[in-house]
Amino acid sequence: MTKPAVLMTGSYPDWDLAELESSYRVLRLWEAADHDAFLAEHGSEVRAIATRGDLGASAALMQALPSLEIVACYGVGTDAIDLDHARVAGIRVTNTPDVLTDDVADLAVALLLAAARQIPQGDTHVRAGRWPAGPLPLTTRVSGKAVGIVGMGRIGTAVAKRLAVFDADIAYFGRTPREALPYAFVDDLVALARRSEFLILTLAASDATRGLIDARVIEALGREGILVNVSRGSTVDELALLAALESGTIKGAGLDVFWNEPVIDRRFADLPNVVLAPHHASGTVETRRAMGELVRNNLAAHFDGRPLVTPVV
Ligand code: 8YV
Repeated sequence: MTKPAVLMTGSYPDWDLAELESSYRVLRLWEAADHDAFLAEHGSEVRAIATRGDLGASAALMQALPSLEIVACYGVGTDAIDLDHARVAGIRVTNTPDVLTDDVADLAVALLLAAARQIPQGDTHVRAGRWPAGPLPLTTRVSGKAVGIVGMGRIGTAVAKRLAVFDADIAYFGRTPREALPYAFVDDLVALARRSEFLILTLAASDATRGLIDARVIEALGREGILVNVSRGSTVDELALLAALESGTIKGAGLDVFWNEPVIDRRFADLPNVVLAPHHASGTVETRRAMGELVRNNLAAHFDGRPLVTPVV
């Protein structure tokens, strides 16, 4: 039997590529010098796209693939996939929820600790031999503080669980109150920011959440405030955030995601009060193996005519 053709928009770890290649004819779009020419040559045979959260799949890409049946995303966030187009065109979409929740929550807490306790600055202080000349300036306590979580889904809940151990006073903003959770629901973002010393963004990105964390919310977080973002860069008004970090309107930030990844605004590099990560919250061997397996299980379910494991559309 001929192997179904799967178009990959970007690279996966070698172990996933090897597994995919054993079951599918893998077409590597990201290696093609001319994407349009590549799609014109191979587009008609493609039955599946294997993409990543950061790369997604545009309507234009899906339209260039007349035999497309499914888009399998290596990531939980599907904001870069045109879901409306997929729905209308009858193209199925899957993602990789749950398997990455713990790692993303871990990194959110790590970024908070790193920004508040100035872990990178301490590391530089020691490496650069500045320790004998004096101690690191005093930092900010994390334990026992008021924390606001924006988006109390799987990842937000996992962050809250971790910060509860730090005796945090947790409140959250989300689409709807989650009555079963022992945290206060605040239906106004400015009010949530005002009551919080730390604001952690774990919401799913969409057109509706673009720039949700605007200058007013950032200002309400205040001069002692630290913002952590493990969601998507699009959820924050990044120019307002940069201005607030430069002027001291907030104390600092721990950021895994940015507007123009991976070529981010260079102003971040000059800021002493930010800790930066390269969109790597799910980037552990354990989680990436599980994400790759879930992509393959969804593709296999589709081509075997079984129910999808984690359908989005
Ligand atoms: C990945 C992600 O970094 O799950 C998501 O939505 O953005 C991340 O887990 C990404 O999909 C891998 O490139």
